[in-house]
Amino acid sequence: MSVRRSVVVGCGHHLPENVVTNADLAKRVDTSDEWIIERTGIRERRIAAEGETTSQLAIKAARAAIADAGLEPGDIDLIVLATATPDYTFPSTATQVQAGLGITHGAAFDVQAVCSGFVYALATADNFLKAGSHKRALVIGAETFSRILDWQDRTTCVLFGDGAGALVLEAQDGEGGIADRGIHSTHLRSDGRHLDKLYVDGGPSSTMTTGHLRMEGKEVFRHAVTNLADIIEEAFRATGLKADDIAWFVPHQANRRIIDATAKKLSIDPSRVVITVEKHGNTSAASIPLALATAYGDGRIKKGDLVLMEAMGGGFTWGSALVRW
Ligand code: ACO
Repeated sequence: MSVRRSVVVGCGHHLPENVVTNADLAKRVDTSDEWIIERTGIRERRIAAEGETTSQLAIKAARAAIADAGLEPGDIDLIVLATATPDYTFPSTATQVQAGLGITHGAAFDVQAVCSGFVYALATADNFLKAGSHKRALVIGAETFSRILDWQDRTTCVLFGDGAGALVLEAQDGEGGIADRGIHSTHLRSDGRHLDKLYVDGGPSSTMTTGHLRMEGKEVFRHAVTNLADIIEEAFRATGLKADDIAWFVPHQANRRIIDATAKKLSIDPSRVVITVEKHGNTSAASIPLALATAYGDGRIKKGDLVLMEAMGGGFTWGSALVRW
């Protein structure tokens, strides 16, 4: 029986030029390279230049993904962009990307699930393609988290960075087996009771300001490993796949210790874990596509590889995706 799946046909990314090291941050707040590396694994992050917006980063990542797919922007009929740092309160950043790419047909919209945003966007686009309403989707994670950080707060400002990554998905019909290329499962969860543990203390309807990121790091950490392991086990149960089948584990890049603990809990070999948090910091919705682009760009991820993604973010939201590249 033929089954329609969303197949990854292109992958691209873009990072701002400006590299900010831990030593640079130690000049601004009371912190040290040793503390940041030991607690998070982060050594440096990219920070957008003045005037460099989320949509500008996203457009460059999208162009790279479309070129990698051997397509033209006009071949895309759906843009789903995950961000918590849009250019404007409205319209969506996705529509800015659509305009930047010169596309005037199809649909473009944002999804907001903070650090889980890319997995949410992937699941959304997948369902549109499987339903048959659209043929080729750009799925983008793009952020300028530097704009919502409190640069006086050493407990948060050292953790985040800016960037964008994108995939092109194409609806293709396969045999219906586990060997098919494409998205095999997506699982999404949320629990809105945890607002106080990770949020931005502003917004159009509450304060009429943009606000700054606030986080109870220890609490987020505590929930992360359990939630992430659960949502991955759910993906394994749903597909019949197991840890040994995974060629590459590409987690949200928030903290090296969360990644290591999750991989250990699931018995995923460390050699199959893609880690970019060292160079990118936590780029929220951009972190998974940036990690995918890194491992695809250096030849680790190849056609036919089974890739497991997971993320957790503000809300809380969390999710997983199993994709045969
Ligand atoms: N430099 C030096 N010292 C610091 C810094 C810093 N940048 N930040 C905090 N400290 C101090 C604290 O003040 C505290 O000092 P005290 O003992 O004198 O009070 C001490 O270091 C320990 O602080 P903790 O918060 O207990 O440190 P912890 O080991 O929990 O690490 C961290 C903090 C890195 C934030 C960790 O809790 C974490 O990674 N949590 C998960 C955060 C996360 O992943 N968030 C993102 C997920 S969702 C999303 O991506 C939006």
